[in-house]
Amino acid sequence: MLRFSTRINAILGLCTTVILSGCVGDGCGDPTERPWCDTSYTSKERTSLLLNEMTLDEKLSLMQGDDIFGAAIGVPANGTSKGIPRLGLNTVYFSDGPLGVREGNATAHPSPLAVASSFNPELARQVGKAIGNEVKNKGNDVIHAPTLDVVRIYTSGRVFETFGEDPYLVSQMGLQWMYGIESEGIIANAKHYGVYTQEGLIGIPNIPLFPGALGARFLYNAVIDERTMREVYLSPFEVLVKQGGLDSIMCSYNYVNYESACGSQRLLTEILRDEWGFDGFVLTDYLFAQKDTVDAIHAGNDLEMPIGIHYTRSKIAKAIANNEVTEQDIDQRVGNVLHTLFDHGVIDRPNYTSNDDAIDKEAHALVAQQTAEQGTVLLKNDNLLPIDLGKVNSIAIIGDASDSFINGGGSSAVFPFRLITPREAITERAIAAGVTVNYHDGNDLTAAADVASNSDVALVFVATSSGEGQDRTCLSLTCFEEKLAGQDPDGLINAVAQANSNTAVILETGSASLTPWRDDIAALLQAWFPGQFGGPAIAGILFGDINPSGKLPLSFPESANDTLYANNFSRYPGMLHRGPKGSLFNVEYDEGVMVGYRWFDDQNKAVAYPFGFGLSYTNFSYSNLQVSGTLPNLTVTATLTNAGDRTGSESAQLYVGLPDISLDNRQPPRQLKGFERVTLNPGESTKVEFSLDARSLSYWNEANEGWEMANGCYQVYIGSHSRDLALNTALPFEGAQCE
Ligand code: BGC
Repeated sequence: MLRFSTRINAILGLCTTVILSGCVGDGCGDPTERPWCDTSYTSKERTSLLLNEMTLDEKLSLMQGDDIFGAAIGVPANGTSKGIPRLGLNTVYFSDGPLGVREGNATAHPSPLAVASSFNPELARQVGKAIGNEVKNKGNDVIHAPTLDVVRIYTSGRVFETFGEDPYLVSQMGLQWMYGIESEGIIANAKHYGVYTQEGLIGIPNIPLFPGALGARFLYNAVIDERTMREVYLSPFEVLVKQGGLDSIMCSYNYVNYESACGSQRLLTEILRDEWGFDGFVLTDYLFAQKDTVDAIHAGNDLEMPIGIHYTRSKIAKAIANNEVTEQDIDQRVGNVLHTLFDHGVIDRPNYTSNDDAIDKEAHALVAQQTAEQGTVLLKNDNLLPIDLGKVNSIAIIGDASDSFINGGGSSAVFPFRLITPREAITERAIAAGVTVNYHDGNDLTAAADVASNSDVALVFVATSSGEGQDRTCLSLTCFEEKLAGQDPDGLINAVAQANSNTAVILETGSASLTPWRDDIAALLQAWFPGQFGGPAIAGILFGDINPSGKLPLSFPESANDTLYANNFSRYPGMLHRGPKGSLFNVEYDEGVMVGYRWFDDQNKAVAYPFGFGLSYTNFSYSNLQVSGTLPNLTVTATLTNAGDRTGSESAQLYVGLPDISLDNRQPPRQLKGFERVTLNPGESTKVEFSLDARSLSYWNEANEGWEMANGCYQVYIGSHSRDLALNTALPFEGAQCE
């Protein structure tokens, strides 16, 4: 398919070669004429040879993207950085995103929340690989993903794009996802660095350019202490950089401690490069993330996307002329991009060509389906599931969410190659078994309840809208935005539950939500945005071919008043405060490290469904906790047994409780530091094993600017979720006593 943007480039004569897939460069060229094409040099040597050959204007041309159309609303997303044919530099193509490629049709994977719910890093790698392959076969070189933001605000519009509320889980999933992407020869551009936790309230849903007005992503300033930033929001980026050699990062729209994230020397140079050793390039989020020219150059921001607003050639040339920046500064910025492209072979190969036929759509669909199978979480089951088709005569399917493609809005939206809806998959199975299916779209509650009351089992499908640029206005399923669309998901569930005691609710939602009706229903499945093959996965779970194994990557609060930001405007959406360079709202992160389940645990609050929770059709038991080694280097093992009568998978979880640093500098009661997913036959046992080290037992000491262990008693817990930890032991450190 011809990209709209490249078509424009082609019309303007900006390509050397134009084929159906757009501009195609042939690769670097002959090393005898272009010494930087000699692969026996290191990428840094090649970069300096190339920089020597470039005019200043050519260098400046590489500091900004060249394609505004790619990011435009409704147009398949991609950015470009035009190459320099005289030097053998191909155009570089950038694509979104975390659920699949946003270009034409693609395999629509379940949202990353589902990937995280699988607690299966190997699956995350397979998803990354499948997406990476499509990025490549659609002619792109870089993907703006994974999303490493840690969830703080459950109603935030992009929660579905994340791996949840725990930094360790986010890191482990993000790392493998990135490995998968890179195994296909694509550069992962992890986002959004840093402390990007909200879109803003009151705007036009799903339209990035019309942001939520209150606490808008372009306008808020995160007022955050260093410990919280390091332990929670930056830590996934640190893991990908240090362990995974991540080579590309997108800086975010917001401000952090009165500096724009894309103009922050602290974030982009001192922490990212000097401390973590990041050796790749930083690009900006699209359009409004960069706030100026000179500060951004000094801060370490290499590439403005999707076009230059502050990195225009004339603005940078003027800054050089005014001695505000030097040509060496420019060489550094451009050099970061070039040596990363050399490192990843982008300059040496011809551009990838766009060819959907080269995509193994069946194999990728299978990965999407497996993700939905492993990532759907069974939250309640009063003996309704699995449904035995031999024992029912009729099933009601209620809700048009059962028959649509449910996805999040914004830059991560994907148009599926193929779609099998839950209604299709369930109906096919039921009819083959001679069971009648009664469908109602759910828009008339009384009529829907009637259909439910005339069926043996009622399956209610509910979806809510989530999208970039706009936070949801409440934690319930029925918010202002649903009412505006004439929908009442909570009312529908209540009406059907009253009509039929065998009601199962299937939520196709992008975050945690309130479940006030949960005592009135028999079963509850959280399917997130389940992707193009969510239908067969959900049907497989309902009918028992698949034993559910997903675990929640975020807590489901009991009440909206229990969240860390409830009735607290300074925490969310932020208080009006005119800051430097355009920030307008201060958001105080003064809950500190008590984010997600850490908050509910610290406050001793009941939750509807805790972090890490998820039921199975079998039961697991934990025994025999053993710890070997000496603090901090420990190996912790336990025996996990399938005590039920079906084969099933369980994700054993290890949490640590660190000693408080001081009375007013406390530690969360529990923090996830290990997990292992295993599959066991009935009666089978296995040993699960976890390693702990100094870092997993440390906190960020602000005074000493480093990771340290506090003296005291260290608690180690193993169990099935954050509030069911069957095994625990206490280990004293540095002469402390454990009671
Ligand atoms: C989003 C990014 C995305 C970019 C390009 C922005 O609005 O915040 O996550 O990668 O658009 O589509």
